[in-house]
Order: sequence, then C-alpha cells, then structure tokens
Amino acid sequence: MLEPLSLRRLQTSAYMRKAVIQIMGEVVLGISGASGAAYGVRLAEALQELKVPIRLVVSNSGRITLKHECDTTPEELAEKTGALLEEQANIGAKSASGSAPIDAVVICPCSGTTLGKLAAGIGDNLITRSAIVAMKERRKLIIVPREAPYATVHLENMAKLSAWGTIVIPASPGFYNHPTSIEDMVDFVVARILDQIGLKHSIGKRWTGEEIDEF
Ligand SMILES: Cc1cc2nc3c(=O)[nH]c(=O)nc-3n(C[C@H](O)[C@H](O)[C@H](O)COP(=O)(O)O)c2cc1C
Repeated sequence: MLEPLSLRRLQTSAYMRKAVIQIMGEVVLGISGASGAAYGVRLAEALQELKVPIRLVVSNSGRITLKHECDTTPEELAEKTGALLEEQANIGAKSASGSAPIDAVVICPCSGTTLGKLAAGIGDNLITRSAIVAMKERRKLIIVPREAPYATVHLENMAKLSAWGTIVIPASPGFYNHPTSIEDMVDFVVARILDQIGLKHSIGKRWTGEEIDEF
C-alpha cells in the first residue's frame, strides 16, 4: 500500500505529465533539402520522447537528403517517432490551418530555397505554407538554416525573418562542451531548438559557469 505522500507524488507527476501534454499542442516539423537531415531526425525523436505530437512534412529535396545522409525515408521516420506524415503538396493539411492548435513550426534543416520563399511570403508547399501561417497567426516559427558560405541573400533573408519574429538557430554546434561524437554535436543544436519551443528536456550538457577557472 502506498503512503499518502508517495501517492500524492505519483498523482502530482501524472497530473504534470497531463498538463505538459495539454499545454503543448502539436509541433509541425518541416525537413527541407539542406544538409543536416540528422538534426531533423533527432528533433523528431526528442519530441516523441517528450510526448509532443508531431506533424512531419518533408520536401522532395528533404527526402533526398534524408536518404543520402541518414539512410531513411520520411515514412520510416514517421513510423519510428509516431509522427503524422503529411504530404508536402497537400497545402490544405492541418499543419497549415490557422485554427488548428499548432504551437510551433520548426523547419530543420532549412534550405536557402525555403528561407528565400519565407522571406518573400511564398507558401507554395506545406512546409512554407505552415511557416507563413505561423507568421500570420503569431505562432512560434523556428528555422535551422545550413549553408556554407552564406550568400548575402541568405543573410538578408535571415535578418528579415528574425526582425519579423522568427527564431533563427543556425545549424552550428558549439564546442565548449567538448563534444566527442556527431550525436553530441547534433544534440547541441536540437537542445537549443527544444529550449526555444519552450520544452523542458535533458538533452546535451548545459553550461554551469564553473567550467573556466582562469580568465
Ligand atoms: C545532398 C544535398 C545537399 C544539399 N545541401 C544544401 C544545404 O546545405 N543548404 C541549402 O540551402 N541547400 C542545399 N541543397 C540544395 C537544396 O536541396 C535545393 O536548393 C532545393 O531546392 C531545396 O528545396 P526545399 O527547400 O524545397 O527542400 C542540397 C542538395 C543536396 C542534393
């Protein structure tokens, strides 16, 4: 028989879990054709671990990079992470609905093409349309661009989107936590994305301020 205190703890944690699910609506995860598909894959896994419902949209080019870099398909990724896979051509899908309870749209990774479309207000597929809807509904929009070097047009587009409220998280992992694997580096970026969505998580190491003793 459980003691009243343990019972209360159990009830509280069950309540908290429910609360997280209730507070957090769905997250639209768009994987476009920039290199770094692994960031999108890991983000989907992390969202599943956090019990956040995912609507997954993969562009045609994203399908290519997903296969080339991670040896997987959108269908396999959706099955593995419990994500609901939507067709990029289906601009009438729920991800692009202004009235659906979507909490955040994350484009990870975000190609220069998708970035350019967003900066021009073009919503011609389900990824770009969901992002434009996020902008008009003042929902959280996070993009994870990757290119090297960036063209001035990429930089100008990022500055434009940032000024309009989009969170721009470049796919550039830090080294101050001494990563020892690709997974560590991927986790670094994914942790920043989860922070910006507003999710509590334990992915990656956090800086404590005690790491450097000489300055
Ligand atoms: C293997 C591969 C890697 C690519 N890497 C990048 C990249 O890192 N950044 C980028 O902006 N585009 C990259 N591209 C080009 C985009 O896929 C291309 O511009 C495409 O039009 C993007 O379309 P989307 O935004 O609809 O996915 C890459 C393409 C391939 C095939």
